[in-house]
Amino acid sequence: MDLKGRDFLKLMDFTSEEITYMLDLAADLKEKKKKGVLTEWHKGKNVALIFEKTSTRTRCAFEVAAHDLGMGTTYLDPSGSQIGKKESIADTARVLGSMFEGIEYRGYGQGIVDELAEYAPVPVWNGLTNEFHPTQMLADLLTIREHFGKLEGIKLAYMGDARYNMGNSLMVACAKMGMHFAACTSAKYFPDPALTEECRRIAARTGASVTLTEDVKEGTKDADVIYTDVWVSMGEPEDVWAERIQDLSPYQVNASVMANAKKDAVFMHCLPAFHDLKTKIGKEMWEKFGIAEMEVTDEVFESEASVVFQEAENRMHTIKAVMAATLGVPEE
Ligand code: CP
Ligand code: NVA
Repeated sequence: MDLKGRDFLKLMDFTSEEITYMLDLAADLKEKKKKGVLTEWHKGKNVALIFEKTSTRTRCAFEVAAHDLGMGTTYLDPSGSQIGKKESIADTARVLGSMFEGIEYRGYGQGIVDELAEYAPVPVWNGLTNEFHPTQMLADLLTIREHFGKLEGIKLAYMGDARYNMGNSLMVACAKMGMHFAACTSAKYFPDPALTEECRRIAARTGASVTLTEDVKEGTKDADVIYTDVWVSMGEPEDVWAERIQDLSPYQVNASVMANAKKDAVFMHCLPAFHDLKTKIGKEMWEKFGIAEMEVTDEVFESEASVVFQEAENRMHTIKAVMAATLGVPEE
């Protein structure tokens, strides 16, 4: 398997075998990290990290992973780059491509990261767009595989806003890896119809399935994984909160949802999550709408079933695998 020189823009671009290869590499890198084995495979190289939206996990994961691979990083924050404002994507790609061996981009439309990749002579990695969050997918798949020992046949129920980056990406990940994906939400928030069709075609080959349902009992019945994400994503206008809370409250992950899933089901969330009043936005929503928890209750978030922090740690190991694979893995 050789992914050297490839971009990592969305999971759809990779075969199931290539995804498995990246997961295996991530598991190996994780083991090496735990044992203190150094993996400075790319000493002397540098990567650019463009963030047009904020981040805790993805930025830290890229920085730590790059450092562990022996590389330097330059972080361009949401206000710190000229990209798209004073300088075109194509020009930015060629400038950064002349100084760095790889470029991470987090921002808005998928078209931006695609265009960066088209013009940059080095690998481009998608750190989240409105449509997709592919590095998150590898972390999620690794976490599920660590927990259940397999991916094939696992049922993942996704609740809440399934029409954005997380819903789309999880549907693709499940279809590719032979898993059963159920979007369990109001029809208004179902994933993109064309993407759903494409995933159903893939599912027919891999033994996966794709279900879209508004029925919480049906959607979460016997699920191995219950997954949710924030109801309003980065970059969306503030005035959608009221509508989202009204539409998506019936799809909150709570104890009764978990009880309807399999006995040993796990709870997953890409994070950050609104499960208490310890955040500024959480408090604002409490003051405006009288709700103390949103997409997941604090009870579920803090329960034994919750693997969210293992999932967060795996962001680093899997992002390291993506960079290593696309920059080249040395023969052992
Ligand atoms: N899950 C995730 O992408 O987290 P950040 O927004 O903190 O990077
Ligand atoms: N859907 C969320 C994911 C954050 C990791 C967002 O785009 O803000």
